[in-house]
Amino acid sequence: METVIKNGTIVTAQDIYKGDVGIAKGKIALIADSITAKKGTEVIDAKGMYVMPGGIDMHVHLELPFCGTVSRDDFENGTKAAACGGLTTLIDYGIQQKGHSLLEAISARRKCADGRVSIDYSLHGGITDWALARHEMDQAIKLGVPSFKMFMVYRNEGWMADDGDLLQALEATARNGGLVMTHSENDYIIQALLKEHGPRAKELGAYGHALTRPDYSEIEAIVRVVKLAEVTGGRLFIVHMSTGGGADAVKAGQDRGVKVHAETCPQYLLLDDSLFKKKDGHLYATCPQIRKKPDIERLWIAVQRHTVEVIGTDTCTFDKAQKSMWKGDFRKIPYGMPGVETVIPLMHTYGVVKKKFTLPRLVQLCSTNPAKIFGLYPRKGTIAPGSDADITIFDPRKEGTIHCKGMQTNCDWSPFEGYKLKGYPACTLVRGKVVAKNGKFVGEKGYGQFIARKPFGELA
Ligand code: URP
Ligand code: ZN
Ligand code: ZN
Repeated sequence: METVIKNGTIVTAQDIYKGDVGIAKGKIALIADSITAKKGTEVIDAKGMYVMPGGIDMHVHLELPFCGTVSRDDFENGTKAAACGGLTTLIDYGIQQKGHSLLEAISARRKCADGRVSIDYSLHGGITDWALARHEMDQAIKLGVPSFKMFMVYRNEGWMADDGDLLQALEATARNGGLVMTHSENDYIIQALLKEHGPRAKELGAYGHALTRPDYSEIEAIVRVVKLAEVTGGRLFIVHMSTGGGADAVKAGQDRGVKVHAETCPQYLLLDDSLFKKKDGHLYATCPQIRKKPDIERLWIAVQRHTVEVIGTDTCTFDKAQKSMWKGDFRKIPYGMPGVETVIPLMHTYGVVKKKFTLPRLVQLCSTNPAKIFGLYPRKGTIAPGSDADITIFDPRKEGTIHCKGMQTNCDWSPFEGYKLKGYPACTLVRGKVVAKNGKFVGEKGYGQFIARKPFGELA
């Protein structure tokens, strides 16, 4: 045994129990009431702490060229920040360029990440040209990339998929076990509202972003794509769902037997669109936009009722200088915000401590469910013999306040600045190696590995 974690409380998606965890060759080798460590074995004392499967954030955009700039947390620093926040695996995207190969995009992204990441990572494909990608999907799955984001929006960026593309891609997943992940916003509604309100951009300020991306632009898109999954028998995952109406559409689909799962993110559970009226409101612009208070309530309920099965972050870090590109025109704000470093402590504080959900539910949402749905389980997403020793030792007693100063992220603001926290990761291990301690990165650049994933991921 190389490492023994002693005296902790093990928390999985189903259980909470006292036990020691023995690690050998990067894997969990033994779980027992008490393990006697031999001479030379590293002992980590987890007394009073939770020993949980490492967090898996299935939704990040590191060094993404987007909105005329490139997101600031790159593979090197973004994975360090994630480690500090208790995450052990990230899933980023290889986004195809129109007229180009999807497989090339995936392989270019791997070249960019390999040797620079300090925790494990995987990739989704991003399909922007279905006519080409349809011939590459099966091969991408063979290469360990079985999930594909398609955008129902971003027509001007050349990323948008039409309904025919979605229909055919979903049809393919019914056969090949892939998963279509949709960014569900109705671009036609948004473009019409931009035309209407655009001339008043300076007067509206950052609130123009909220005004032109209403809840119904998301709800309509979710209703539509759930229907397409239903008629094709396809496998669908709604990313960054932000509305109560969207959750209703997902639930209605699930009740009809449609294979649809959904993710939401901390920004949709904790922030509301009154922020856009503040002096620095433009910082919060992300797509979909943060919503109104009733949506927040309804999303928490959707999480509690298992309509939403995954919490990711949609990390796409733009710092203040990048956000300032808007120069008072909401149509020019780079969309996105940081998140990997704060998701676990925020969801512990505002989910578990506030009694919105239990500790095992936190593990389900932030580790086990993404591992199962995205084909990483049981290698990742649980504490069990044979699984990778990806472990977050979480101290529920530690209190603090979020300040972006002193955090690992390259961002110089946090959407959750000043938020009180109860509980923080004390130690993060990836395949048995300690990569972060008490919010500080102690790992090694390049230690992270690309993890090939399996198709037909299921929750059950
Ligand atoms: O505004 C966002 N969410 N930026 C990242 C790209 C995306 O659509 O997820
Ligand atoms: Zn998106
Ligand atoms: Zn995203």
